[in-house]
Amino acid sequence: MNNNDLANSYIKLINSALEDYVQFTGDEEDRVTEAMLYSLKIGGKRVRPMLVLEFCRVCGGDVNLALPFACALEMIHTYSLIHDDLPCMDDDDFRRGMPSCHKKYDYATALLAGDGLLTLAFSVVSGAQLPSEKVVKAVKLLADCAGYRGMIGGQTMDLQHEGQSITVEQLRKTDALKTGKLIYAACVLGCIAASADEKAIEAAKIYAENIGLAFQIVDDVLDITSTAEELGKPIGSDESNGKSTYPALLGFEKSKALVAQLTDEAVAAVSVFGEKGAFLADYARKLSVRTK
Ligand code: IPE
Ligand code: IPE
Ligand code: MG
Ligand code: MG
Ligand code: MG
Repeated sequence: MNNNDLANSYIKLINSALEDYVQFTGDEEDRVTEAMLYSLKIGGKRVRPMLVLEFCRVCGGDVNLALPFACALEMIHTYSLIHDDLPCMDDDDFRRGMPSCHKKYDYATALLAGDGLLTLAFSVVSGAQLPSEKVVKAVKLLADCAGYRGMIGGQTMDLQHEGQSITVEQLRKTDALKTGKLIYAACVLGCIAASADEKAIEAAKIYAENIGLAFQIVDDVLDITSTAEELGKPIGSDESNGKSTYPALLGFEKSKALVAQLTDEAVAAVSVFGEKGAFLADYARKLSVRTK
């Protein structure tokens, strides 16, 4: 199977599993279910769940058994986007090409839909058909990476820095937390599902840290250079919110050079997998030149 076919097969698997996990009851609480499903189903690139499945495959695991880990992570990511778009945070009205959750529904429903996805994620991970030690490891990793020392910590720093001038070091830490940690969780979750050895886990961590930072830098560049149609979310949001970003601090050229350097490091890290690491190397390069 070539890389594109493999990516498409992962996306199919992920999308159908995600829908299966979110169940309607036929009762009044379905309003939140509808909002959760709305934000999940309108798509997105599915970067994180794909990384879970691919690391699992590369490390010799059964991709189907890693699917709950992958879906749980996508639920947490989607919750982070719903909350990120709220008026109290980035106040953005479009996401994934459609009105943001709070625009389609209302503020409270969007808040609850995010909470609903976050808690459902942990229910889904605990239902994985894997040995309980692996499930417990996965729960802890997800909680730590999503939490106050992970994505939430990064989002806090991001908001605190609005309108301030900060150092590149502060920005690097913010991005490593707000975006890097869930990408790190993705790569390591795949390793956990496959019982990968230390060498593989080390490679996964280096790959994750490098593509994680590169991912946010590209996101910041696209916020300036792309169009809302292409991105499916508003452009110019960072500037209007007074965000500190790599292009704002370093300029385009240095930002792009950094993305290239980080990507090279990620590609080098997965060389330990030999031929089997080809998808991951190719994926890192594709993400570095993505247009949405
Ligand atoms: C957007 O993530 C938020 C960041 C962490 C930069 P993605 O670019 O992965 O968003 P979707 O999932 O494709 O919508
Ligand atoms: C958000 O970064 C990272 C999250 C943890 C959600 P951004 O605020 O730049 O993400 P977008 O551009 O709105 O997708
Ligand atoms: Mg934000
Ligand atoms: Mg935002
Ligand atoms: Mg952005």
